[in-house]
Amino acid sequence: MSAEIIDGKAFAANLRARVGEAAAAFEARAGRKAGLAVVLVGDDPASAVYVRSKGKATVAANMASFEHRLPADTDQASLIALLAQLNADDAVDGILVQLPLPGHLDEQAVVAAIDPAKDVDGLTPVSAGRLALGIDGLVPCTPLGSLLLLQDQLGDLSGKDAIVIGRSILVGKPMAALLTAANCTVTLAHSRTRDLAHHVARADIVVAAVGRAGFVKGEWLKPGATVIDVGINRVDGGLVGDVEFDGAASVAGAITPVPGGVGPMTIACLLRNTLTAAHRRAG
Ligand code: GUN
Repeated sequence: MSAEIIDGKAFAANLRARVGEAAAAFEARAGRKAGLAVVLVGDDPASAVYVRSKGKATVAANMASFEHRLPADTDQASLIALLAQLNADDAVDGILVQLPLPGHLDEQAVVAAIDPAKDVDGLTPVSAGRLALGIDGLVPCTPLGSLLLLQDQLGDLSGKDAIVIGRSILVGKPMAALLTAANCTVTLAHSRTRDLAHHVARADIVVAAVGRAGFVKGEWLKPGATVIDVGINRVDGGLVGDVEFDGAASVAGAITPVPGGVGPMTIACLLRNTLTAAHRRAG
């Protein structure tokens, strides 16, 4: 069997176009553009690339982009003061602080300083609590994008066995919560899981988010499983996922490629969340 390749790039382009149209309608109604503020501390080159592409995509989707680049030695109080200013700014509907932050900053305290109504990354304790409790709110972009791809591929996910590999705040934990809300039976596996292959073999849906190149092997998979590879690992100058692609593609029913799978969905969902926040704030 040869797996269907899930075209996240095309899906994301379509989603961005739909959000762009809805954002134009928002502007016509509200008399202002929906706005996204992105805060980057320091000069990590990979983060700078992400932030630039987020800004471009925001403008292309008929929204206003506010970029704040702060020096690497910015102190906690200055960063929190900027967030307070953005929280109070009516032109700003969404706030994203690019992670990771330089080591001297308290990431949890910084994220918690974002107004939950503007938390388009879904990372504040309020947003995470809402997701855990099943209350409607803003959801982290990468898991949301992964869920949209799964629902597009499989339709109703009710009753499916799903495994999420990795328990990060950014991906694994919210992904498990979203799949649970979608009525999957969810296993959340991590670095201490015993006999991972045994758990993967039972899963109709596999979401790999461990950050280790080729960690998940094709022979572990249940034939016909749908595989979402969230990993982006740099190997020999190229990008590879957390799933051993060739082995998995011969067993899975469908699989996301790296690049061109989940990656493009993250920015598309960020734009979607920004517009959602704008609508809620405008009432
Ligand atoms: N760094 C890598 N991915 C992300 C993300 O989705 N959100 C934020 N804030 N930082 C990131």
